[in-house]
Amino acid sequence: MEKYIINGAKEFSGEIKVSGAKNLALKILPATILSNQECLINNVPEIEDVQRMIEVMTDLGAQIKLQKEHQYLISTKDINKTTLRPDLVKKLRASIMLAGPMLARFGEVTLAHPGGCVIGQRPIDLFLEGFQKLGAQMIENGQTYTLKTKKLKGNKIVLPKISVTVTENLMMAATLAEGTTIIKNAAMEPEIPALAQYLNQNGAKIKGAGTPIITIEGVEKLKASEFNIIPDRIEAGTFIILGLITNSQITVKNCEPEHLENLLYSLGKAQANLEIGKDYIKTLPSQLKSTNITTHEYPGFPTDLQAPFTVLMTQAQGLSLIHETIFEGRLFYTDILNQMGANIIMCDPHRVVVMGPTELYGRSLVSPDLRAGMALILAALIAQGTTTIENVYQINRGYENIVTKLQALGADIKQTNE
Ligand code: EPU
Repeated sequence: MEKYIINGAKEFSGEIKVSGAKNLALKILPATILSNQECLINNVPEIEDVQRMIEVMTDLGAQIKLQKEHQYLISTKDINKTTLRPDLVKKLRASIMLAGPMLARFGEVTLAHPGGCVIGQRPIDLFLEGFQKLGAQMIENGQTYTLKTKKLKGNKIVLPKISVTVTENLMMAATLAEGTTIIKNAAMEPEIPALAQYLNQNGAKIKGAGTPIITIEGVEKLKASEFNIIPDRIEAGTFIILGLITNSQITVKNCEPEHLENLLYSLGKAQANLEIGKDYIKTLPSQLKSTNITTHEYPGFPTDLQAPFTVLMTQAQGLSLIHETIFEGRLFYTDILNQMGANIIMCDPHRVVVMGPTELYGRSLVSPDLRAGMALILAALIAQGTTTIENVYQINRGYENIVTKLQALGADIKQTNE
């Protein structure tokens, strides 16, 4: 079984380059289905989730070729079935991103309930409701959902809850629908305007992406073009926290500071010293103070950085309240931090209080999910002694070459298969 072995309490220095955004790559790959021409996608991160998406699409008949590092040439013209392979769908929640494009291009898609992180219930009701609003019929047989339509029709969709992947899925489906679709209460994460930019450069007519109201005027078909995936703001934020937590000078390169404004605000409150450039952020030695955060849809504090921020607060002076509002199961890893010596009290499943600073100690751990797994790496890097982390597949789902990247900064981390 693959695991990481980490010897902590080292000082780091140097530069670290942020990869392409996982949560955009997992939408751009499905978006290529909206056109039957060849698409060239650059800056695709080499992570397990992208490989799973490639497997699901290849199984449908798509041809996806790695041209050179991080660059894929994709042709979906030979897609010859509409059922997503259930075992793969169960491994990758983001496989639901194929539903909108498949329905728009082929008028049919069948999928099992998708799997993914164990961070909450993660229902798919809003996707199914949205597709039905666009004119699809749904047949459910207990195991799978089939959505069918002769041609999707534009409609007004008011989302009862802000959802990133529902917004993106409906936006993609509506590009080829007849008439105009208006999505109200849309999510505004930076990956959404980036996806709209890709679709628009291929001929879609989308306005308002990045605001709560998105208008999509349906078009007959889309062409294809070259596209660069934007930097991963969550990976960037994680590396910034790594620099601060280890009191090191690390330059996080290839990042987009504008996408990290809320993290930077909270780090400012925590009295972190940072040098912020146009496309880099450098961490400087800091005396950290406790700071409360509440996760919120963009442009609020990202839920995906909640766990790394909590580890940071174990090293800050005073009491910090961490309030997770998006997912109901995303704070249970704090129990593992307590096993390492942290002093964190869970008030309820949505709130913990962190009392810092506390010394952390190496332990044998199992990564519960992607973001909590990365938080455990951060904790291990500052802990006294050796930590082993099992179930690293969960971490490799979303972080590219994390071992090599951290080693380049001076970290004592290795992956073994024992
Ligand atoms: N929700 C419903 N019904 C639905 C869909 C969502 O009730 O049909 C609820 C969810 O249960 C949650 C809330 O809506 O309580 C918001 O979740 P959202 O749908 O926005 O999350 P998501 O689209 O499934 C994306 C990212 C997540 C990230 C969240 C929030 C992708 C592939 N995933 O998930 O990323 O945490 O937005 O920003 O884009 C990660 O990268 O580790 C990750 C989990």
